[in-house]
Amino acid sequence: MPLFRKKTPDVVPPAVLPEHIGIIMDGNGRWAKKRGLPRRAGHGYGAQTFRTIAKHCEKRGIRYLTVYAFSTENWKRPQEEINAIMNLLRDYLKESLADFRSENIRTRFVGNLDPLAADIRELMREAEEVTREKTGMVLNIAVNYGGREEIAQAARRLAREVGEGRLSPEEIDEQALSSFMYTAGQPDPDLILRPSGEYRTSNFLLWQSAYAEYVYMDILWPDFKPADLDAALAEYARRNRRFGGV
Ligand code: FPP
Repeated sequence: MPLFRKKTPDVVPPAVLPEHIGIIMDGNGRWAKKRGLPRRAGHGYGAQTFRTIAKHCEKRGIRYLTVYAFSTENWKRPQEEINAIMNLLRDYLKESLADFRSENIRTRFVGNLDPLAADIRELMREAEEVTREKTGMVLNIAVNYGGREEIAQAARRLAREVGEGRLSPEEIDEQALSSFMYTAGQPDPDLILRPSGEYRTSNFLLWQSAYAEYVYMDILWPDFKPADLDAALAEYARRNRRFGGV
């Protein structure tokens, strides 16, 4: 009997649900190009998909969702495209601050937020603040995020701890490093989804993904539907995770 069927209230058995999902929201540009639209239109539809899929993850009982919204490398894109993504983020933040009461989602931002516009940083701070007590899914939005940058800043902060005498070099272990990552205190991702047909990690959650299961899907992000998420959950449920054991 299949673990998962469409139409019936398709519930993946909780024992095999991933606790933490990461999503690389890829394919917005190609989606727009196929329709003769500017790339920013693809990001607009992608932002809508993000809202739908975040709600669906919460409905499915996912405890942590991390989405890759803007990488440390995305600054290389044309300024018009960067502005469009930042505006979508701004709109999302304003909207979620307006109706945060209707959702039981705790929003957090991961990445180096310092170079972002002051008003966006302030909206992010408010969004984190007003959702702090929420008990449902934790939603990490990765903005100006890069796995290598995250590891480098953790190393820098650990070095400072050692330099100021609060930590000895011998105390630097995996746990210490984890506690200086942007996702400190959260479980590592169990499942990382990459739509759009690309097979790359693209600097996403490098440290945390050591034992993540990857599911690559040949769907452009704006076309990604709740049923696709369910298909990925079913695929995850079929995987045999051994964490280096037998
Ligand atoms: C990758 O597709 C997508 C991005 C770099 C931006 C993702 C941003 C959003 C979905 C909207 C803003 C987010 C929130 C949280 C409101 P691509 O542009 O690399 O696509 P391509 O590979 O087809 O060119």
